[in-house]
Amino acid sequence: MCGIVGYVGEKNAVPLLLNGLKRLEYRGYDSAGVAILNEGNLWVEKRKGKIRDLECEINGLHPESTIGISHTRWATHGVPSEVNAHPHVSMEGNLALVHNGIIENHASLKSELIANGFSFVSQTDTEVLVHLIAMLYAGDMVKAIRESLRLVEGTLGIAVLSAHEPDRLFVARRGSPLVIGVGDGETLIGSDGAALVEHTRRVIYLEDDEMAVVDRGGARVRTLQDKTVNRKIEKIEFDLGQIQKGGYAHFMLKEIFEQPQTIVDSMRGRLLVEEGNAKLGGLENCLDRIRNSYRLILTACGTSWHAGLIGEYLIEKLAGIPVEVEYASEFRYRDPILSRVDTVLAITQSGETADTLAALREARQKGALALGLCNVVGSTIARESDAGVYLHAGPEIGVASTKAFTSQVTVLTLIALALGRKGILSSEDGKHIAQEILKLPDKIKQILELEETIRRIAEHMAGQKNVLYLGRGFNYPVALEGALKMKEISYIHAEGYPAAEMKHGPIALIDDNMPVVVIAVKDPVYEKVISNIEEVKARGGYIIAVANPDDRTIRSLCDEVIEVPETRQCLSPILTVIPLQLLAYHTAVFKGCDVDQPRNLAKSVTVE
Ligand code: G6P
Repeated sequence: MCGIVGYVGEKNAVPLLLNGLKRLEYRGYDSAGVAILNEGNLWVEKRKGKIRDLECEINGLHPESTIGISHTRWATHGVPSEVNAHPHVSMEGNLALVHNGIIENHASLKSELIANGFSFVSQTDTEVLVHLIAMLYAGDMVKAIRESLRLVEGTLGIAVLSAHEPDRLFVARRGSPLVIGVGDGETLIGSDGAALVEHTRRVIYLEDDEMAVVDRGGARVRTLQDKTVNRKIEKIEFDLGQIQKGGYAHFMLKEIFEQPQTIVDSMRGRLLVEEGNAKLGGLENCLDRIRNSYRLILTACGTSWHAGLIGEYLIEKLAGIPVEVEYASEFRYRDPILSRVDTVLAITQSGETADTLAALREARQKGALALGLCNVVGSTIARESDAGVYLHAGPEIGVASTKAFTSQVTVLTLIALALGRKGILSSEDGKHIAQEILKLPDKIKQILELEETIRRIAEHMAGQKNVLYLGRGFNYPVALEGALKMKEISYIHAEGYPAAEMKHGPIALIDDNMPVVVIAVKDPVYEKVISNIEEVKARGGYIIAVANPDDRTIRSLCDEVIEVPETRQCLSPILTVIPLQLLAYHTAVFKGCDVDQPRNLAKSVTVE
């Protein structure tokens, strides 16, 4: 949420800063700005809208500079506008600051600053920080920033550019990620590695309550209590190709089509087919503790929460361990009853979601085993968990999550398999599941070949205002996920429901031609789902079924059928979700929506 880029080196900073922002645009995209130092003076340009709007505004007409900072915003305090865009500048015009996070005590700080003669131009919480640093500056930038940060409450990742010390950038972190890229004669900063990878893969991840002075020779990291820190240089594992569209119209489409490969990457070296088991290096040492936990709590937000719901079904069925699934945002504030006998697994693509991170910290603090299931290597949750597993799905750029979801479910299946084989799951059953997992990539490819059929259905969908998604058992969370995808990117009101619950409310919505998407694969609840389809049909609903091939009953009852290959019930979500991702994608394209950067959303939600 909000993207920060900084550069100090020998090259022309502005194009580099704008390019870096484009790589981070999925973090926020309502306004953007850049600040550089030219002959000792700050030059700042800001614009409401996307980075390309800022780029058009600048139109190559900018002073030369080899140092600067830039920002792409997702508004929290104050509407998206030029004046609220970052960087924010001190009254004397010699300090510029970009910020990711929220200053919670901004109102009281603002009153104090106004009493001291400072005046404000924006409605943001961030502006207090630049004035605070200016007020406390007495010849030492590091000291002024450190003292200011002692006074602010909330979360922050900041970068400061100062005419007082024109060859350095100052960065600090408390809760919002910051990465320093160490190049050859140049140093970069970014909210994540995507902004840096074109220039260097050698990075330092700043930890909470640390700050760094960055110059072209590298970075010196210290704690906010002024203690020296020796951070080792780590390596970014992805390359530039993975964060480019590679010929696809949108990142989301590329990521949907990557899924046959990404689920292979998620299980590579982990699935032991002959033994009907899975080996997850990161969890090796704590598998027994998880198995013997009083209960296992899966906590997450958004799409990752839906993966958690499937994880609950998987782990309870294959391993017989009691599982609960909690929205991370609710979990942290209800003072959950936790102790050493519990395990909490945080599921997150970014590894930075503020609520999920807080839930993990709550679990650790109460003595539970705190595990992470993350995609982004080196992310905060990956580093703060007691143990964990990476998804290895590669960078996900589309704001609506697709490939991370199927990888999450794949890895949760492996966890369920490994836990199950320590208990109730026979080797024969384990082997069958493992063999079926191996077939999933080809089955996903078959579903992707149905894109044209799905596109045709999407054309009809694009004219609708409401849509209901129904599923049962393992496919109930898929109904939720299908509905979430649809509303996120097409802005059509979509609700996911367990099919049987429909008659307790949502059935009132159904009238002639109301589209209802039903997941009706041949599993133990199939007959029940057929009854639910009959109930929809009796009220004139327009039924789109996701079903197995050659199902005559479904064909006779439904208006449209999307066929997905058969598999074991517990693996079916990895297949049934694919057509729903494509349906949402093509509906949004028909409606002319910005698929990769949907209205009001951001990919990495680092504020509460
Ligand atoms: C945001 C994104 C969703 C994502 C959710 C959780 O809302 O737009 O796509 O599912 O955050 O993110 P995480 O990185 O923790 O999985």
